[in-house]
This record gives sequence, structure tokens and C-alpha cells, in this order.
Amino acid sequence: MAATLPAMRLRNTRPMDIGSAHVVVTGGSSGIGLATARLLAARGAKLSLIARGAERLEEAAREVSAAAKGVPVAARAADVADRAALTRAIAELEAEQARPCDILIASAGLARPGHFLELSDDVFRQMIEVDYFGTLHAVCAVAPGMVERGHGSVVAVSSAAGLLGIFGYSAYGPAKFAVRGLMESVRAELAPRGVHVGVVFPPDVDTPQLAEENRWKPRETRVIGGTIKPLTAEKVAAAIVKGIERRRFTICPDTGTRALARFGSVLMPLLNREFDRRVRALQRSTTPS
Ligand SMILES: NC(=O)c1ccc[n+]([C@@H]2O[C@H](COP(=O)([O-])OP(=O)(O)OC[C@H]3O[C@@H](n4cnc5c(N)ncnc54)[C@H](OP(=O)(O)O)[C@@H]3O)[C@@H](O)[C@H]2O)c1
Repeated sequence: MAATLPAMRLRNTRPMDIGSAHVVVTGGSSGIGLATARLLAARGAKLSLIARGAERLEEAAREVSAAAKGVPVAARAADVADRAALTRAIAELEAEQARPCDILIASAGLARPGHFLELSDDVFRQMIEVDYFGTLHAVCAVAPGMVERGHGSVVAVSSAAGLLGIFGYSAYGPAKFAVRGLMESVRAELAPRGVHVGVVFPPDVDTPQLAEENRWKPRETRVIGGTIKPLTAEKVAAAIVKGIERRRFTICPDTGTRALARFGSVLMPLLNREFDRRVRALQRSTTPS
């Protein structure tokens, strides 16, 4: 009990000094994680990147460091679903950077859409293992130190699919809902201890994940998405950095997800009616009479 008291007293709401921070980014070798790493490195932060594929990771670390005029960028290959390996990787990165993690961006994740009746158990399990447990493991690795220091920022990347159940996302959506639920509870417990907690709700973003996801998307999921252009990873990264600076919990990179995050329970019946209409129209047009 006594050990927790100093952090309780040290409620810290001053803005994060990004220029002196050590930032750990899971999923830092690609897409939203890489764009966020680039932006924070350009602001002078020390970066540590984590992903599974060592080659792409090393390439990303070199690129981020060169673009930020030699800012120290370290990298470790680890699977976020493997708690021991991820915890070890973060400890090694903290030792290499000679600084504990000040900011965590938990961006590692993957999406596998499909018809509910056709998705295998393995897919449901993989989404939870990587998207949910991968986030939980990263938060668990850095939160005790941040609480001890009464300082830090923990940001997890959920999805618009974590705000609304969407046709084709019965495996991915629940994992992203779980990320949101986790971060809501963690915020309630860590914010009074000086730690900023945020969760990001991107809509479609133009990254390798979206390209892979599009290979599996049912046609119904495509018509629901309509012709909305995906955001760039840079736009999402800018929203994340702003969210950290302003200590925001809900980080929405566009007006659509912002409206959904604020007024979801009011908008949901209207959206569901429109999405159901689009699905019916598609199915009618493709059913032989
Ligand atoms: N793109 C979108 O439309 C979109 C929309 C909403 C939310 N999101 C979320 O945003 C986050 C980032 O996605 P993105 O679009 O930037 O994807 P991305 O470009 O495919 O990048 C994913 C990153 O996560 C890493 N990763 C994947 N599985 C991992 C694992 N088990 N352990 C460690 N690292 C792993 C990948 O590297 P390795 O494969 O080498 O491990 C890569 O660095 C994800 O959580 C995603 O669900 C994306």
C-alpha cells in the first residue's frame, strides 16, 4: 500500500514533452505505427519499434532515424501475442535507449473479415490473441513503471469496427471492442495516477493491412463502406500525436468516427437501417430470379 501512495499524490496533467520522450511502438514497421513513429522522431523523441518481421523492422528503423537526422531508433522483433517475448523486448529496448518507456503506441494488429458462418475458430482466436491480448501485453509491460513515475502516455489503436458491429467483422470487431473496453477501465485507474490513456478509432486507412483485408472482404462489407476514400496513415498519426499532447482519451482522426464515438447509440439504428438496405439491394441484384 505504502509503495503506491507517492504515485497517487503525484497526479500529473502537464503536457507530454515529446522531444525528451522514449516512445515504444508495436506494429512500428508499417502503416499507422510507422507513420506515428516518423512523426514523433521528427519531434526529437527516441523511438523503439516492435514487429515480427525483422527485415522490414530494421528497414523501418533505418528510415525513421535517417528522416529524423539521426534520432536514436532501436528495434526488436517480437510477437505481441507472446507475453514473455514482448515483455522481454520492451525491457531490452528500455535498456538500449537508457530510458524507460514514456509513450506506448500499441498499433500492432491485423484484420480478417469474412462471413460469420464461414470464419474458422482459428480466425476468431487469432483476432483476440493479436488485437486484444497483443495490446494488453504491451500495456502491462509499461504501465507499472509509468504509475511508479506518475507520468506517461499509453495509446492503443482500436478501429471504427470497435464502435459499431459491421457486416463481415464478426471476428475482428469484438477484438477491437475489447481493446476499447480495456482502455476505458485502464484510463479510469491510471489517469488519477498521472498516466494519460487514449484509444484511437480509425476508419479505413490506406496501409498494407487494408490491402490484405480487401482480399477477404465480403461484397456486402464493400457496399456498406461505399466509396469513402481511406485516410492516409499520416493523418491518423497526426491525430494520435495531437491526442497525446492534449491528453485525450478518445482519438478520432475523422468526423465520421468522431460522430460515431460521441453519438453512437443514437446513430446506430439509422446506420444499421441504411447498411441493411445496401446489403438487401446487393443480394437482390445478385440472386438469380
Ligand atoms: N488500415 C486500416 O484500415 C485500419 C483501420 C482501423 C484500425 N486499424 C488498426 O490499426 C493498427 C495498425 O494497422 P495498419 O493498418 O497500420 O497495419 P499494417 O500496415 O499492416 O501494420 C501492422 C503492423 O503490425 C505488425 N504486426 C502484426 N501482427 C503482429 C504481431 N502478432 N506481433 C507484432 N507485430 C505485429 C506488423 O508487422 P509484422 O507483420 O512484421 O509483425 C506491422 O508492423 C492495427 O491494430 C489495425 O487493426 C487499421
